[in-house]
Amino acid sequence: MEIIKVKDYEEMSEKAANIVIEHMKSLKRPVIGFATGSTPIGLYNCLVKKYQQKEVSFKHATTFNLDEYVGLPKENKNSYHYYMHENLFQHVDIQPENVHIPNGMAEDLEQECMTYDRLISKNKIDIQILGLGLNGHIGFNEPGTSFKSRTHIVKLDQSTRKANARFFQSIDEVPTKAITMGIETIMESKKILLLVSGKKKADALATLLGNSDISEEFPASILRQHNDVTVIADEEALKKINE
Ligand code: GLP
Repeated sequence: MEIIKVKDYEEMSEKAANIVIEHMKSLKRPVIGFATGSTPIGLYNCLVKKYQQKEVSFKHATTFNLDEYVGLPKENKNSYHYYMHENLFQHVDIQPENVHIPNGMAEDLEQECMTYDRLISKNKIDIQILGLGLNGHIGFNEPGTSFKSRTHIVKLDQSTRKANARFFQSIDEVPTKAITMGIETIMESKKILLLVSGKKKADALATLLGNSDISEEFPASILRQHNDVTVIADEEALKKINE
């Protein structure tokens, strides 16, 4: 794993945007995997800015998002459909038919997972953005998820629901389930860019970068087996490593 140490959230976002853009420019039809949560918002802001400055176009890009809550309609402010539209898609020249986000409102969720996974297998992801959950989750793959998992439905950990409750009126409104790309699906991405910022993530990052075992109990540990992972982490997140 390549580790890029940066000062703060702004620098992390800027670096990440530069890497994504460079990668996009090297490909005719780039396939990008996007993540949600607080971490990549700065990256999306930078991408929008650079699009406005004509440094990048999304016209020929195809995108896949990692995950979506089950039971939240697209118009719901907490759905990841809404998030992506607000933070990135509505501001750039992406073709709506090239945007893929799991449908958490599908009548047949199992079928939705299979269809989504097949589509990713057909359009290999060139660069996948990841955030890091406090418990080491990637996408919504909670501790204990099989490393062999494909896109599937997950029951969210109480700790994850609690961590994400800040976006909702109360924790009761946080969905209990989600659809997520599986760990094996994520690992098939050609390049992975993991963004980690803030002291809240220091323990998780220390576990990831430490010498602990690669274990399903800490899903992100599998990334150590991928041959092209770049971690961009800021000083606060790296605190427990430099101590
Ligand atoms: C969320 C998302 C993940 C995200 C992670 C970290 O629950 N499903 O894709 O990477 O948790 O979120 P944040 O960036 O808000 O800390």
